[in-house]
Amino acid sequence: MFEGVVLLAFTLPASAVEFGKDVLPILKSSCNKCHRDGKEKGDLNLEPHRIRKHIGSGLQIVPGRPNSGLFMKVIESDDPDNRMPPKGSRLSEKEVNILKLWITQGAELGDQEPVPAGKPPLEAVWTNQAGKKIKAALLRVEGDKAVLKMANGKIYKYPISNLDAESQKKVKEFAGNVEQEG
Ligand code: HEC
Repeated sequence: MFEGVVLLAFTLPASAVEFGKDVLPILKSSCNKCHRDGKEKGDLNLEPHRIRKHIGSGLQIVPGRPNSGLFMKVIESDDPDNRMPPKGSRLSEKEVNILKLWITQGAELGDQEPVPAGKPPLEAVWTNQAGKKIKAALLRVEGDKAVLKMANGKIYKYPISNLDAESQKKVKEFAGNVEQEG
């Protein structure tokens, strides 16, 4: 549909784990009974619209470092008193590996990424340095990346410096007008 997608997209390896397809079902079946809206044991809510609160350096889920946060530690703990889920069987090796891979690959939420209320995304046609254009909604700015939602629902973090001057300006204006969520 959009020719530019291939060039502009921040493509993922074929083996990429997707949050919605691979990770969410595990959380739903093994964790959300106790870690969801209205029941946030240990102050932890793992629903897609809240999990971001727990992703980041020093938090339970540290992108790129599955061994750092408490999340994998409690899942893999050999101590039944500290293990999650606390009752019933442990996660299978396959499930553990999916979660680890997801964190290793950056703990992205993909198409489950919540759009913050009151911050309408900026629908626009973006042009990159090579002159390719793509229609996408700018959701927010993360560091030097523009978080773009494509027409097919896929979300890409695109280096702002790869956009042309006019598109960069649009991104900067958007970032300046919208308060970053902490
Ligand atoms: C039967 C309820 C239950 C289920 C299911 C459950 N948890 Fe928990 N979880 C708890 C409780 C209760 C606490 C708080 C423990 C505490 O504060 O001592 C907790 C705390 C945690 C913590 C914080 C630990 C800490 O020390 O701060 C993490 C991380 C966690 N759970 C992850 C998970 C994950 C991941 C799953 C699914 C694989 C899961 N939990 C499934 C009940 C549950």
